[in-house]
Amino acid sequence: MSVLEQLFYSAPGQVVAEKLGLPEPEVLRRGRKLPAGAVVTASLAGSTLATDTLALLGVPIDSALRDDGAEPPTYPERIGAVVIDARGLRQLVELEGLRTVLRPAMKGLEASGRIVVLADAEVEGLEANAVRQSLDGINRTIGKELRHGATSNLIYCSPGITGAELASTMSFLLEGRSAFVDGQSWTVGSPLTPLGELAARPLLDRIVVITGSARGIGARIAGVAARDGAKVVCVDVPAAGEALAAVANRLGGTALQLDITAAAAGERIAAHVASRYGEQARIHGLVHNAGITRDKLLANTDAARWGQVIEVNLAAQLRINPVLLDGRPGGLGDDARIVSIASTSGIAGNRGQANYAASKAGVVGLVRAFAAEVAERGITVNAVAPGFIETDMTAKIPFVQREVFRRTNSLGQGGDPIDVAETIGYFLDPASAGVSGQVIRVCGQNLVGA
Ligand SMILES: NC(=O)c1ccc[n+]([C@@H]2O[C@H](COP(=O)([O-])OP(=O)(O)OC[C@H]3O[C@@H](n4cnc5c(N)ncnc54)[C@H](O)[C@@H]3O)[C@@H](O)[C@H]2O)c1
Repeated sequence: MSVLEQLFYSAPGQVVAEKLGLPEPEVLRRGRKLPAGAVVTASLAGSTLATDTLALLGVPIDSALRDDGAEPPTYPERIGAVVIDARGLRQLVELEGLRTVLRPAMKGLEASGRIVVLADAEVEGLEANAVRQSLDGINRTIGKELRHGATSNLIYCSPGITGAELASTMSFLLEGRSAFVDGQSWTVGSPLTPLGELAARPLLDRIVVITGSARGIGARIAGVAARDGAKVVCVDVPAAGEALAAVANRLGGTALQLDITAAAAGERIAAHVASRYGEQARIHGLVHNAGITRDKLLANTDAARWGQVIEVNLAAQLRINPVLLDGRPGGLGDDARIVSIASTSGIAGNRGQANYAASKAGVVGLVRAFAAEVAERGITVNAVAPGFIETDMTAKIPFVQREVFRRTNSLGQGGDPIDVAETIGYFLDPASAGVSGQVIRVCGQNLVGA
C-alpha cells in the first residue's frame, strides 16, 4: 500500500475524506509504461505531426477514429489515449471538430488514459489567437472532468517542428511518467543544435548533479537519472551526510557534502566532478532541487527567515550557474540540461509563504530569462513546479490542512516524489533539446492557481 493509500485508509484520513465527500484515490499508472488500450489519433486540419511522431516512437496507432465526418466518430472498445492534432485551426467554428472528437473519448478513456492536444505555438490574427487560447481553456476543463487518473495536456508546437523534435514529449505524455501532470500546457520547438536520439536509457554514462538529494524528491530524481543510465553526483549538507552516502552508494554514484549557499559552491561541484570522473568530464544535467521552507505570515517574518529561504532556493543557483558555465574542468558541457524546482506556491502565492513564493517565483523568472541566454550552446533550462507531493517537507504541514492540500486537485491525491523526478528526467533527456524555458506544474491540476 502506498503512503497515500495508507493515509486514506487511516481513521483520521477517512473522517476528513468523508467530510469532504471525496472519492478513493485512483492508483495511477506510473513508469515507462504506455496505455494498455488503443492509441487513437485525430487530425483536425490536415497536420500529420501526431501520426509522424507516434510512428517514430513505434506506437501502434488505432485508426478507428478518422476525420470522416461520422457523428459521433467510431472508437475502439478500449481507448488508452486520444492524440488530437489541432494544428492549423484558425477559426472558432473549427473548434466544433474538437468537441466532436472529444465527446465520446470523455466517457470511454481507460483509467490513467491520456488526452494529448497539439496546437500551434504561433498564429496570426485575432480569431486565430482566440482559437489558440480556447484550446487552453478546453484542455484545463477536460483535465477537471476526466476521472480515474486520466489526464489531458496541451502542447504548443513551434512552426516547422518535426516528429523527432516532439518525440520525447509525446513519449513522456503517453507513458506513466507523466502520471501527475494534468491540465498543463507548454511549448516545444526546434533546437538550435542537433537533437539527441531517443533511447531506452537516454542518460547512459552522462553525469547528472542533483542538489538536496539525501532524501525526498532529490533522492528520487537521482534514482530516475541512475535508472536512465546516468552517473549521479548527489549533493547535500554535511548534516545529511549519512543519508546522502546511502543514496549515492545505492545508485552507484558519488556523494558531495556541500552547503549550496557556500560562496565557492560552484567551484566545489566542478572540482568534485573533475577529480572523480576526470579532467575531461563535463556535467550533462544540473538539477537545482535543494530547497527549504520557513513559513510564517509576512507580518511575522523576520530577516533571517526571509534571507535563508531566498539564499537556498534562489540565490545559490544564481551563483552556481555561471561558475559551472565558464568552461572549467568538471563544469557544464555543451548541450547540458539545467533544471530547477519551482513550486505552485510561487505561481499562485500561498498564505504564510511570502518568502518561499518569492524564491520559487524567482526561479520561474530565472529559468525563462536564462534559457534564451544559453540557447546557442544547446543548453536547455527548465523548471518543474510541484504541487502537493508526499515528502518529509509536506509531512510538517498540520494534518487537516495537509489532507485538504493533497485532495484539492483533479486527481484527488497527493503526488509521489517519482512524479517530479520523471518530469525532470524528461527535461534531462538529450532528445528534449527543443524544450527550454518551460515550467511544468506537477500538481495533478491543483485547484490553487490552476
Ligand atoms: N514536497 C512538496 O510538496 C514540494 C512542493 C513544491 C516544491 N517542492 C520543492 O522540491 C524540492 C525538494 O523538496 P522535498 O519535499 O524533497 O524537501 P526535503 O526537505 O525532503 O528535501 C530537501 C533536501 O535539500 C537539502 N538542503 C536544504 N538546504 C540545503 C543546502 N543549503 N545545501 C544543500 N542541500 C540542502 C536538505 O538537506 C534535504 O535533503 C525543494 O526545492 C522544494 O521546495 C516540494
